[in-house]
Amino acid sequence: MTGRITLWASLLLLPALGRADTCTTCHALIPQTAVWEHSFTDWQESLHAQVDVDCVSCHGGDGDAAVAGDAHHGMTPVGGGKSAESRLLAAKVCGSCHTDKYRAFARSAHFRRLVEGETAAYCHTCHTSVGSRVLTQETVAATCRGCHPTRGERSVAARAERVLNSLTRMRLAVTFRSPSAPLNSAQWETLHHSATEAMAQWHAFDLDAVERALAQGRPLLSAADGDR
Ligand code: HEC
Ligand code: HEC
Ligand code: HEC
Ligand code: HEC
Ligand code: HEC
Repeated sequence: MTGRITLWASLLLLPALGRADTCTTCHALIPQTAVWEHSFTDWQESLHAQVDVDCVSCHGGDGDAAVAGDAHHGMTPVGGGKSAESRLLAAKVCGSCHTDKYRAFARSAHFRRLVEGETAAYCHTCHTSVGSRVLTQETVAATCRGCHPTRGERSVAARAERVLNSLTRMRLAVTFRSPSAPLNSAQWETLHHSATEAMAQWHAFDLDAVERALAQGRPLLSAADGDR
């Protein structure tokens, strides 16, 4: 294997491609195979690529080395999601930047289950490995139902859908304030606080706490929409 990778590298003359990071220049040329948890294109099209969160940011290694063996040397293990342990490793990698999300996640029933060696949702389950997916009120219920199949008003999936619906409306309302909305600045502040607090609680997956946070802002939502 190592021999094949070295041959690859010597044939490719990477620096001639003109990018400082050899991981991306080389991996862009590798045919996608079943071993990939995410393709080069998944990363390239993600928000992470736009904000320069690249292969080294998550995998470590040496982004200046032209030979795969050298580049891969010292890569941080991110796991492959196959075991509870590897899910915890991967979550830790994401958590190195998303510290607030990780801290909330570490309080969740999901995290507790992983620590006990059981299967539970981790970052990849909802965002994919490169964080390129963001759930919406249309997709969230189906994702939860993968492990929480119960149906009905008070089921995990139904509550998650309602939560994201209100949360998304609230965040849009405060980001794009409608000039026709009859709200004073204290009320805008309540909406903003409600959305921020709900988002801060979300990754702990304590749906009661999230619903409590949203309850402060919800009565203002119709007014906040104004003529929209
Ligand atoms: C010269 C080419 C080349 C460079 C440079 C390179 N890789 Fe790779 N990488 C490969 C090949 C080839 C594989 C094996 C893929 C396969 O078998 O389909 C691989 C596999 C991997 C794997 C899978 C884990 C493993 O060990 O099998 C990861 C993760 C990875 N590379 C990340 C990186 C990162 C991060 C960098 C930069 C620090 C990098 N690569 C630089 C060619 C390269
Ligand atoms: C935002 C973080 C992130 C970025 C950026 C990222 N990866 Fe990954 N990658 C992961 C995680 C996490 C996994 C493990 C799968 C999982 O648990 O989600 C993974 C898995 C892989 C695998 C499969 C590993 C295996 O053992 O099968 C390869 C290969 C790989 N990444 C290469 C790359 C390359 C090349 C880049 C840059 C183009 C890159 N990754 C960018 C987080 C990232
Ligand atoms: C090196 C730092 C870094 C690492 C590691 C990292 N991220 Fe990010 N991530 C960012 C930045 C910067 C943004 C841009 C928005 C922001 O500031 O939150 C972002 C944005 C996101 C978004 C929002 C995407 C959107 O379209 O709105 C998600 C989801 C996300 N990351 C998930 C992950 C996951 C999952 C992992 C681990 C596999 C991860 N991140 C690892 C820095 C990082
Ligand atoms: C069970 C599903 C699930 C898991 C597990 C999960 N998330 Fe999320 N995440 C969501 C949802 C839903 C949102 C809200 C989407 C939105 O912004 O509309 C979100 C939002 C985010 C955002 C964007 C926040 C913002 O302000 O817009 C980031 C970054 C993020 N998650 C990172 C992570 C990281 C890191 C992990 C692992 C420690 C993780 N998530 C685990 C479902 C999940
Ligand atoms: C990969 C499987 C998996 C996925 C997907 C998943 N969960 Fe979970 N969840 C679990 C496990 C396992 C537990 C622990 C159950 C226990 O301890 O009895 C749990 C527990 C919970 C709990 C606390 C206990 C309860 O049943 O009220 C909440 C809330 C929760 N999950 C919300 C969600 C939400 C919201 C989603 C979707 C965004 C989601 N989960 C997706 C596996 C998953």
